Formats: sequence, structure tokens, C-alpha cells
Amino acid sequence: MPDTDKTRAAKPFLTDVKTLRERARRHLESGDVMPSYMGDAGKTIEILQSVLATEIVCVLRYTMHSIAATGISSEGVKAEFAQHAKEEREHVGAVAERINQLGGRPNFNPEGLLSRSASEYAEGENLVDMIRENLIAERIAVDHYRELVRYFGDDDPATRVMIEGILVVEEEHANDMHDLLVAHEGRPMLKR
Ligand SMILES: [Fe+2]
Ligand SMILES: [Fe+2]
Repeated sequence: MPDTDKTRAAKPFLTDVKTLRERARRHLESGDVMPSYMGDAGKTIEILQSVLATEIVCVLRYTMHSIAATGISSEGVKAEFAQHAKEEREHVGAVAERINQLGGRPNFNPEGLLSRSASEYAEGENLVDMIRENLIAERIAVDHYRELVRYFGDDDPATRVMIEGILVVEEEHANDMHDLLVAHEGRPMLKR
């Protein structure tokens, strides 16, 4: 569509390029990291530090399980745990990047990690226990992230979209763990 006065007038919510450039230049001089940010950046960083801790705990738990799982038919399960550990590491990276973009410092300090995390670090005594603990942790993450998607809404679409992307993967993880539990126990241990 040609960029005529008529088409510009039809979209009054779009700021013109000149104003955008001036604003960006002004904010750069003032040192603001994310000047057009609609939410409470401090609160968002605090929430994301908790998400980061949750994801780090997930990496640790799945990594430990991928190595320590034993027993008949544990090989396929170990591979699944290892795959999940890899995906949780990607989440760690994405969340840490977002904290950094918002002007925060991603908290990787092992001290207090568990108290910042929504899910627990449970080792599990045997293969079925491990699967069950992972399923519980995934369901906690899914519930938590669904709330966060609603919380960020239109105030912070970039953070919301990131959390939505992670949420899709956590739902797959929960589903995988549920299916493994059914395969190894013959019945689901937790109602959906
Ligand atoms: Fe994750
Ligand atoms: Fe997960």
C-alpha cells in the first residue's frame, strides 16, 4: 500500500518515525534501558529471577536424573530426561537475557536458589519416583507460567511472548512425563 497521508491518518496509534527517532535519542542520553516499558520493570525483574531459579532447578534435576536413572527400560527414559535438561537450559538462557535487557542482573547464585524457585529439587528413589517428581515440577511450572502470561498481558508483550514460548514446552514436558508414568506404572498417578 502506498504511504499516503490517507493511510497514515487511518492508523493514528502509530507514532511517526521522526518522533520515534527523537524519543530514542533523548532516552539514550538519559540512560534509560527500556524507556517505553509499560510495566513495572523492577517487579518484572523480580518475577523473572524466580522463573530463572525455577528453570535452573529444572536443569539440575533433569540432568541428575538423566545420569542416575537405572533399571529395566531406563535408557529411553534417560534420553528423554537429557532432552528435557537441554530444553530447560534454553529457557535459562532466554529468561536471563530478558532480565539483562530490562536492566537487571540475572541471579545465578546457588545460595538461595531453591527458595527463589517455584519448583523443588527432588531426586526420587527410583525411575518411577523420578518421573513422578518431574511431572509434579512441570505442573507447578505450567500453573505458574499461565498466571504470568495473564499478569504481563499487554503491559509487557515481549516478556509475555517469551513466557508463552516456554509454557508450550513445559506443557509438552508434563505430557511426556505423564505418558512415561502411565507406561511404567500402567496408570496415571496424578489426575490432570
Ligand atoms: Fe523450562
Ligand atoms: Fe520443563
